[in-house]
Amino acid sequence: MVNIGIFVGSSGGITLSAAQQLEELFENSQLINMEEDYDDLEQFDEFDVLLIGSSTWGQGDVQRDWVDPLFEMQNEEPDFSGKKVAFFGAGDQESHPEEFVTALGKMKDIFTKLGADTEYGYTSAEGYTFKYSYAQKDGRFCGLAIDDINQEDLTQERVFNWAQQLKKEMGI
Ligand SMILES: Cc1cc2nc3c(=O)[nH]c(=O)nc-3n(C[C@H](O)[C@H](O)[C@H](O)COP(=O)(O)O)c2cc1C
Repeated sequence: MVNIGIFVGSSGGITLSAAQQLEELFENSQLINMEEDYDDLEQFDEFDVLLIGSSTWGQGDVQRDWVDPLFEMQNEEPDFSGKKVAFFGAGDQESHPEEFVTALGKMKDIFTKLGADTEYGYTSAEGYTFKYSYAQKDGRFCGLAIDDINQEDLTQERVFNWAQQLKKEMGI
């Protein structure tokens, strides 16, 4: 059975709550809260599948607990080849339509450069209203976009459906 690591950075608890739901939906998964549980890059080695969660802050920035680890990754260039990786995170399409869930796209670039297979868990951008997102290409997000502020009633179902999609796509 594959080991699944759910690494999450969340300032207000919304992306964390999605991560907790994912932990319940995936057998053999472990939640690593970047604020409390993360020590160093070697923690990623323990897992075959990584579910990477971050809300978006500033103007399209990753959540603050991801800043140092991502910097370290870009410097040390660990080899992530063979790992299946998917991205999820919260944003706010009404207050921040110019960089909606952009953090997902930024993280995807970094993990892809390190050799990870990041072609999993893409979702349609239909049903969201925003101007721009670096996480969007050709009408699809490179992961799961959550907007619990404006579309709270959709969050749980979106997370559930995404988990089903990943199980199929990754064969887990
Ligand atoms: C100062 C500030 C900047 C933000 N910038 C963005 C942004 O650029 N893009 C976006 O989609 N959401 C942005 N948001 C919205 C947050 O991502 C949103 O509140 C999210 O639910 C937080 O998730 P978390 O509780 O997991 O941290 C911003 C919120 C604040 C307060």
